[in-house]
This record gives sequence, structure tokens and C-alpha cells, in this order.
Amino acid sequence: MLAFLWGKRGNKLDIKKIVKLVHSTRKFIFDEQLRSNVKVKGPQDYVTAVDLTISNYLKTELHKLYPDIAFMCEEESTVLCDKCWILDPIDGTTNLIFDYKMSTVSLALYQNNCVTFGIVYNPFSRETFLALKGKGAYVNGKKITVNKHSLNESIIEFGLGASHKEFADSNFAIAKEIFKQCLDIRRVGSAAITLCYIACGRLDGYLEKNIHPWDYAAGMLMIQEAGGFVTTWDNLPMPLNDAGTILATNGLIHNGLINIIAKNI
Ligand code: IPD
Ligand code: CA
Repeated sequence: MLAFLWGKRGNKLDIKKIVKLVHSTRKFIFDEQLRSNVKVKGPQDYVTAVDLTISNYLKTELHKLYPDIAFMCEEESTVLCDKCWILDPIDGTTNLIFDYKMSTVSLALYQNNCVTFGIVYNPFSRETFLALKGKGAYVNGKKITVNKHSLNESIIEFGLGASHKEFADSNFAIAKEIFKQCLDIRRVGSAAITLCYIACGRLDGYLEKNIHPWDYAAGMLMIQEAGGFVTTWDNLPMPLNDAGTILATNGLIHNGLINIIAKNI
């Protein structure tokens, strides 16, 4: 579990080292000065000095460990390429600014057209979610699986996309119909946490109209390894090179939600 091979020359990814590195971002997340240094990226869209510091720090440290692996990140204008890290230095930036204690560092490795490794670290709950392609998903070392709830027993997360008020009517039409058919709905405010919560059975589904690869890459592998499904609203594989729709579920409720979305979009 602690090392796996990647690349043609059979280089080894040292999982223990990566986990230690990701955990070492904790000091930045709890630094009040960095946290209170907030800049506006766009309407209802913020970045803090924590996001930027972690982005630079992990880019530098990962490059020292694995110079052959490229880097794609929310805070830089980078694009997807084969063998690359996909990083969201803080997923749940607004949560961080509001001290909502639901923010994570999300890091994935993309190679041979798929995500092969993912880690999502929530320093507030001290939980580390980890997934290796073909080897399962884990929280703090314990194997996790999705829940097997049907729609009327399910809790569904809504990513409403705060900076996309133009989607409000169709998003809330979908939300209203799902709310009528499910147990309850939630708004966690971090896609990475949401996906991990589906993977370990704390939530059953999640949908959002406009999501970026760094928000979901690691969490998507978590769900796939835990027995759930992640697709676009058209039931296609996630693109990983562009923003778009996402539907993530425990698997059982996937088709039901696709139908509700199609009728209300
Ligand atoms: C956001 C969160 C949020 C989702 C947004 C994302 P950020 O990421 O994951 O839950 O609804 O679409 O942009 O900006 O906090 O990294
Ligand atoms: Ca972010």
C-alpha cells in the first residue's frame, strides 16, 4: 500500500512521503495572517494567501520528489497533460474564510488517461482520504465503501456554484425535484469533501453544473474505488481537462438522478 509503480521505467510513487508532504500544509491552513489575506478573483470567488502558499509549496516539493511529473493547479494557468499532478491547494476557500472548518487539500495523479492516485486531507477533522486505482479507498487507513441507499433514503449534496447565479433557476428546479424524492439535501461547500463523504457512506449523491478538474479529480477516484459512480449529467466520463457538470453517487441512485436532471434542466 505504501508504494506503487508509475511510468515506463517503473518509477515508484512513495505514498508515505506524499501523505507526509500533504499533512505538512497544516501549518499554512492554521496561519491566521495567511487566512485573513483574501483577494477577490471574480464575483463571489475568492482566493486567500493560504491557497497561494500551499500551491507554491506543493509544486516545489513535488517537483523535488518527482521532476518528471507535470503540474495542473487551480491557482495557476496550467493544463492537463499525461503524468501530471492535479492540485486544489484549498477546496472550500469560502468555508476557510468563514472558519466553517470544511476545507481540504486535494491532490491527484493523472497518467495513462486516468486518475491513479488521490489524497484529500481535511485538517479540521484530521481525516485523510486516500485512493489507489485498483487498490481501494481509505480514510485514516480504514477501507471505505459507498452506502447502498435508494433515493428516498438518500442525502444529496448540491453544488450551486456561488459565482454562477445565472444557473440559479435551473439548479433550484433540479434541487426542488430531488428534495421531494430524497431524504434530505445538504450544501457542504467543498466538492472534495463531498465526494469523500459519498465514498465512505456519509452522503449518497452530489451534483453541480460547473465544476473544475482540481475540485473533483482525487474525490472521483475515491468514489470509484469505493464502489460508486461519477459521470457528467449526460452520463459520460468526466473530462478532466475542462470545467463541466458532475453527478457522483453511490451507484444505485445514478440513473434516477440522471432522469430527474434531464426532466428539469
Ligand atoms: C469550490 C467548492 C464548492 C463548489 C465550487 C468549487 P473552491 O471550490 O468545491 O463546493 O460548489 O464549484 O469551485 O473554490 O473552494 O476551491
Ligand atoms: Ca480551491
